[in-house]
Amino acid sequence: MPKITYIEASGLRHDIDVPVGHTVMEGGRDAGVEGIVAECGGSCSCSTCHVHVAPEWVDKIPSREEMEEDMLDFAIDVDPVTSRLSCQIRVTEALDGLVVHVAKEQA
Ligand code: FES
Repeated sequence: MPKITYIEASGLRHDIDVPVGHTVMEGGRDAGVEGIVAECGGSCSCSTCHVHVAPEWVDKIPSREEMEEDMLDFAIDVDPVTSRLSCQIRVTEALDGLVVHVAKEQA
């Protein structure tokens, strides 16, 4: 099972095994990672699952679709390169080792 590292705003690190087919949001939320609020439950309509993907991973995950781009406009502290809505990243074996930093503040 792919292992994903979530780093909370406080610096607390969680290494979590997330089943293939789940989203990065679900993996963090279900494990109680602080800061993954996910108000809309993963339907790309809230932006409270905002994370910053570690720079070395940005090109290894599928890029944002238009709806995610639009919702990121409502997030706080958005980075044009590293910001993602974690509910829009589907976990595959290729994401084993992915590192995401939970946004300091969710909109
Ligand atoms: Fe609402 Fe991701 S959980 S946009």
